[in-house]
Amino acid sequence: MAPADAPTPDATGSPWPPLRLGASGGERIRPPVVLAPMAGITNAPFRTLCQEQAEAATTARPAGLYVSEMITTRALVERDAKTLRLIRFAETERPRSIQLYGVDPHIVGRAVAMIVDEGLADHIDLNFGCPVPKVTRKGGGSALPYKRNLLRDILRSAVKNARGVPVTIKMRKGIDDDHLTYLDAGRIAVDEGVTWVALHGRTAEQHYGGTADWSAIARLKEVVTDIPVLGNGDIWDAEDALRMMRETGCDGVVVGRGCLGRPWLFRDLVSAFEGSADRARPTLGEVTTIMRRHAVLLAEWIGDETHGVTDLRKHVAWYMKGFSVGGTIRRGLATASSLAELDDWFGQLDLDQPWPIGADGPRGRTAGGKRVVLPEGWLDDPECALPPVDAELDHSGG
Ligand SMILES: Cc1cc2nc3c(=O)[nH]c(=O)nc-3n(C[C@H](O)[C@H](O)[C@H](O)COP(=O)(O)O)c2cc1C
Repeated sequence: MAPADAPTPDATGSPWPPLRLGASGGERIRPPVVLAPMAGITNAPFRTLCQEQAEAATTARPAGLYVSEMITTRALVERDAKTLRLIRFAETERPRSIQLYGVDPHIVGRAVAMIVDEGLADHIDLNFGCPVPKVTRKGGGSALPYKRNLLRDILRSAVKNARGVPVTIKMRKGIDDDHLTYLDAGRIAVDEGVTWVALHGRTAEQHYGGTADWSAIARLKEVVTDIPVLGNGDIWDAEDALRMMRETGCDGVVVGRGCLGRPWLFRDLVSAFEGSADRARPTLGEVTTIMRRHAVLLAEWIGDETHGVTDLRKHVAWYMKGFSVGGTIRRGLATASSLAELDDWFGQLDLDQPWPIGADGPRGRTAGGKRVVLPEGWLDDPECALPPVDAELDHSGG
């Protein structure tokens, strides 16, 4: 059912306007759905799986946007070997989207210039939401927007060096309830020519606990009227995404944990945005087919079967969630190191099992309430534009 207050459906049947990525309208992302950057997860194989699922449900291209895991600007400009491996895209990925983490306007500018000069990506997202202590302790991630002028300098440097390649930002509400930064950051992003802002409706202190505050997304939408505002946090199924669009007035959604072990959520999202009630409800057999493809893609991307199958281990519990599998097979899948071993374990499963009731809800990290560690005196001077010392991480990914 199309929402009553939405515009007229377009050629794909979607009542929701696409996201425009880039100068003078640029590429149209339809539906306005973005895979959230997730360190250790959203590498080329996982992005490909999600994109394939979305494309199976629509003729629109590109069908959504799929962002890389976080790439550290210093490691990129230093041409760190692991980082250069992480930024490789699959042939089929368009637009190619990279998320950067950086705290120094000069280094961020160099990283962006390198991406543009060498044609490494078509879209650059900047991470101002990371709540991890090793990052905030140095003034990076979600701690950084508190320094408004530093944020402004980073965005200015990124946009200038991007030379028309779209730059977006992703942030949290702030450090904690007493130090909210998102409205100022939104205004600064508009001033500096950022293409859109995405807000995860939690503070750094909340980590992944409690529920995301969608009213903050609505509030940001009131303040930021010149560029799109994307909402993020606690979209577990396609209905949640439409509800967030309606309740907050946001222009698009960013979906993270809900698609862990469930890349077909992107198929559901496309269907829902196009007004269809079709939802993927894979049997266990269909899930294992996707898992196997995930393993094959990982093996090809890494260039080594053992490493590919080993990397799949972290996804096993998410793929198997709710199915009756048994401890032995579960452990076997989570310790397999070859495709043949995976196949052996798959062969012992009751593959006709239907999609389990209740498997759609929250998954992934849910812990919250962590004290935010900040550099000494960080809160004393919000206007200070000096980059924090030693905050440039020297590695990328999870
Ligand atoms: C395992 C994991 C890794 C993440 N890595 C990143 C990251 O590299 N960059 C980023 O901006 N956010 C990262 N996030 C946050 C997500 O992008 C997203 O904002 C958050 O999970 C809330 O959205 P959700 O409720 O849809 O999961 C990560 C989250 C998880 C669970």
